[in-house]
Amino acid sequence: MQRIKSVLNEAARILAASSDSAALDAEVLLCLTLDKERSYLRAWPDKELQPEHAARFWTLIQERQKGTPIAYITGIREFWSRDFLITPDVLIPRPDTELLIELSLKLIPADKPVKIIDLGTGSGVIAITLAAERPHAQVSATDLCLAALRIARLNANKHDTNNIQFYQSNWLANVPHAKFNLIISNPPYIAEDDSHLTQGDVRFEPQGALCAGEQGLSDIKIIADTARNHLETGGHLLIEHGYDQQHPVQAIFKDFHYDNVQTVTDLSGQPRVTYGQWNYSAEATLVASKK
Ligand SMILES: C[S@@+](CC[C@H](N)C(=O)[O-])C[C@H]1O[C@@H](n2cnc3c(N)ncnc32)[C@H](O)[C@@H]1O
Repeated sequence: MQRIKSVLNEAARILAASSDSAALDAEVLLCLTLDKERSYLRAWPDKELQPEHAARFWTLIQERQKGTPIAYITGIREFWSRDFLITPDVLIPRPDTELLIELSLKLIPADKPVKIIDLGTGSGVIAITLAAERPHAQVSATDLCLAALRIARLNANKHDTNNIQFYQSNWLANVPHAKFNLIISNPPYIAEDDSHLTQGDVRFEPQGALCAGEQGLSDIKIIADTARNHLETGGHLLIEHGYDQQHPVQAIFKDFHYDNVQTVTDLSGQPRVTYGQWNYSAEATLVASKK
């Protein structure tokens, strides 16, 4: 007989070989199967599963056993306390990226129509969170990948944000020539030969969302360079990067003449976001950006 408690124990035992969060994974997948909250599993441990539910549950467990990330199985991931639709076309949003939101919100006044652009929006988590938290802002978001933009638009509708424009663009190349108060990006920044790419969830994520040339720095360089023509005087550029990229990323910002360059650490104490300010006027931007 397949009762809630016994199938959970059995599934956790099976998943323990391939997942660090085996018991939680089993609970999440049973909740998905039964369309119930986790509290239901606790309240009814001896409840017997209907055969179709049991069959569905063991199929999901097999999926997870093959390594498929939980977010791609459930199709949902939480970010800044909102649920976002997730498919294998987009990166699974990370809690570390909430640091970009925290810093951006400090820089954006709540009552002004500031202009913001999120480069490489993926599922749209950054653009949509900022648009929802700052409804007066005019938010733009780009991605090179059309399939990702489709998911981002679905998420924008899901969260009723109507202050976002999406563009298919190679970073800023196809963005109508506008200036922004804030340019923000979580670009691909993993070196192409990084051994982590063959482990865990990242094996299933789009390579175009993860990897960049020049030891993971090539996209950061392009963004820091081209952002100079799109920042208002006094505007900020914020970029997420790898825990070991603080020094090269700071050097890129400084080489491109950004001021007040700082790196902020994430919740685990790792350098995670570097930001700087563009203090040139429009004419001086042209001169400085040619350097
Ligand atoms: C690390 S993911 C970040 C996704 C999302 N912003 C997040 O934080 O979860 C990087 C994103 O950049 C996009 N991307 C990669 N190269 C790009 C390019 N040249 N121009 C625009 N977007 C690009 C990828 O498709 C991917 O969606």
